[in-house]
Amino acid sequence: MLRNIRFPGRFNSFLELTFLDKAVETASLRLLRQSLGLKPSVNETRLLLNYVERGRGSLGDIRKLQRFFDFAFGFTRNDRKAKMKLVIAATGASGAVYLQRLVEQIDCATHEVHLVVSAYAREVAKQELDDFKIPVEVSQHSESDMNVPFVSGSARFDAMVIVPCSMATLGRIASGSSDSVLLRAADVFLKERRKLILVPRETPWNLIHARNVVTLLEAGAIVLPAIPSFYSRPSSLTAVVDTVVWRILDQIGLPNPGAYRWGQKGSAKTSRKRS
Ligand SMILES: Cc1cc2nc3c(=O)[nH]c(=O)nc-3n(C[C@H](O)[C@H](O)[C@H](O)COP(=O)(O)O)c2cc1C
Repeated sequence: MLRNIRFPGRFNSFLELTFLDKAVETASLRLLRQSLGLKPSVNETRLLLNYVERGRGSLGDIRKLQRFFDFAFGFTRNDRKAKMKLVIAATGASGAVYLQRLVEQIDCATHEVHLVVSAYAREVAKQELDDFKIPVEVSQHSESDMNVPFVSGSARFDAMVIVPCSMATLGRIASGSSDSVLLRAADVFLKERRKLILVPRETPWNLIHARNVVTLLEAGAIVLPAIPSFYSRPSSLTAVVDTVVWRILDQIGLPNPGAYRWGQKGSAKTSRKRS
């Protein structure tokens, strides 16, 4: 049986999958999923395919499928070294090293990277890092210059990351304030349903912080707190920092071959019990 299915992707693109029979369909989906290191499972994906095909899918199911294939497209594009357009912003929370390691791990010569650093972020970076280096290919912008493409919804960008994200900036975004380039950009990414990844660093939280986070999650932001993991047994400060940076790269949809992945075949640590 030949099944030819066309799925809408981002930017008027389509993904066409042809399945010769059930076995091929299952194998293809498994391969696709494994190559992306992605969920949902084959069974979940097939269920969604059936739903959509027969017009029985709920809006939620269809959105889930759409996100899955959007991600797949992004990944394929990156594998081909196609250009992504990214906005990276830093604000005055502790953790300038997260920004440093992120820009070091993005191929800034291939991707279009715009950077906005708040005044407090510069202060904090001075305290925390001896040498704060931004790759020359990165376009740096002042907080007050609204004459940049990413503050308009008409300019298409793939993702915005605020790393580290102060609770002050998080609260301003939650309140809808748009009175700096950084805040306006975040506002635009939310209204255009583009990926906005916030990496807050604060502890403990008060109720206002928690409520602001909920507001942002409801508005579609990805909140990725700067909380390192230790099951990869990191042996240096950089290795600890990278456990957070890997998650940011995953969320952007950039290849991340060095990432430690729990349960990955061939890893000596996969049998170690996770706390
Ligand atoms: C050394 C230093 C460390 C700070 N660490 C944090 C932090 O970890 N988290 C946070 O939310 N704010 C932190 N702050 C406070 C913010 O910098 C402050 O709220 C500021 O208004 C944030 O402005 P911005 O978001 O425009 O950068 C820190 C400030 C300083 C000077």
